Amino acid sequence: MPERTYSVAIIGCGGRARAHVPGIAADARLKVTALADVRAESADTFNTENGYGATVYTDYADLLRRETPDVVIITLWTALHLPVITACIEAGVKAILSEKPMAATWSECEQIAALAEKSGVVLTFAHQRRFSSGNIRIRELINAGTFGKIERMELFSPPHLLDCGTHSMDQAISFNNEIGVAWVHGAADLTDTVNYFNVPAEGVFTGVFRFANGVHGSIRTGTLDMDMWGGVRVTGSDGFVEVFWDGDIRRAVKYSDPSWSFPVPDAVPEEQMIGLVKNAIDCLESGAEPELSYKRAFKAGEILFAFYKSAQTNKRVLLPLTGVTGNPVWEMIAAQKTEGTKETL
Ligand SMILES: NC(=O)c1ccc[n+]([C@@H]2O[C@H](COP(=O)([O-])OP(=O)(O)OC[C@H]3O[C@@H](n4cnc5c(N)ncnc54)[C@H](O)[C@@H]3O)[C@@H](O)[C@H]2O)c1
Repeated sequence: MPERTYSVAIIGCGGRARAHVPGIAADARLKVTALADVRAESADTFNTENGYGATVYTDYADLLRRETPDVVIITLWTALHLPVITACIEAGVKAILSEKPMAATWSECEQIAALAEKSGVVLTFAHQRRFSSGNIRIRELINAGTFGKIERMELFSPPHLLDCGTHSMDQAISFNNEIGVAWVHGAADLTDTVNYFNVPAEGVFTGVFRFANGVHGSIRTGTLDMDMWGGVRVTGSDGFVEVFWDGDIRRAVKYSDPSWSFPVPDAVPEEQMIGLVKNAIDCLESGAEPELSYKRAFKAGEILFAFYKSAQTNKRVLLPLTGVTGNPVWEMIAAQKTEGTKETL
């Protein structure tokens, strides 16, 4: 038996709640006691599927008032992150494990970071791919200097810089020893737009950037002719590695030793979500910064919003980001619609 157990509430009982089930099940410290979903039948089905025997609510505020859970897992669409995180902090929740992206506007990201800082709550965002055995191994190889001095990173992702590009950006930052970015310059193609979880965005984004330690970067999301669908190519002075999002390795080459290869670790089923939950609860107990801390999500988000500002202004944007409150790409999409209306008059 673990020394301490924690009551867990899950708010939003859809797809991502189900992704969290193995992580919760693997941690004997956790007991799911409450669920909330605006659709009662979704929470009831989820409760039955997993045998939680939890109390079900349709109003998350009601749940927080009556249950005082230690841990809340927020598996809601992006616009709900700020209000629900705020309510959890006000209710005295100790650890909040939220879905990514942090928020759909930059001012909401700033508000979430300020609330977390002030309250001292453990707050994480689900860039869970950091816990894949492939990504862990690549971080070890890069840090050991296997590919020489890192010079360049090329990032790839499916469409939607904010919703999907966030995984590639977080992966790249993790390969760069958590060092952030000095400047970005990007362009959004709005020929087609997409809408994921009620967050509209460009169909294609391309950009270049420079990490604060001088490593050059480029990012491409959603183009048809990319040579990787999602992941990062890391090039150093003595070789390169191409890593997909979930840590699968396409190629790893060492210039000084053409015969070099390394055993690619087998991914353990559900290792990403097990790692996400275990690390957050370990950090709740130890006080250490979680691997998926809000500070790291904020760093990745700041770069993505800087890219949107760059696309809107057609200028290079220096970080830290200033002069952005909303979501510049929404303003670009709205402006395009206005122009389109004028054209048809
Ligand atoms: N980390 C990842 O790899 C990953 C992958 C996919 C999606 N996501 C993110 O996860 C989030 C959730 O996605 P999903 O696929 O689980 O969505 P979903 O639609 O399957 O589930 C959301 C659930 O929330 C419920 N809900 C809506 N409003 C609510 C409210 N006010 N209170 C309580 N419940 C409410 C809905 O009824 C639904 O059951 C998205 O923001 C998305 O960006 C992350």
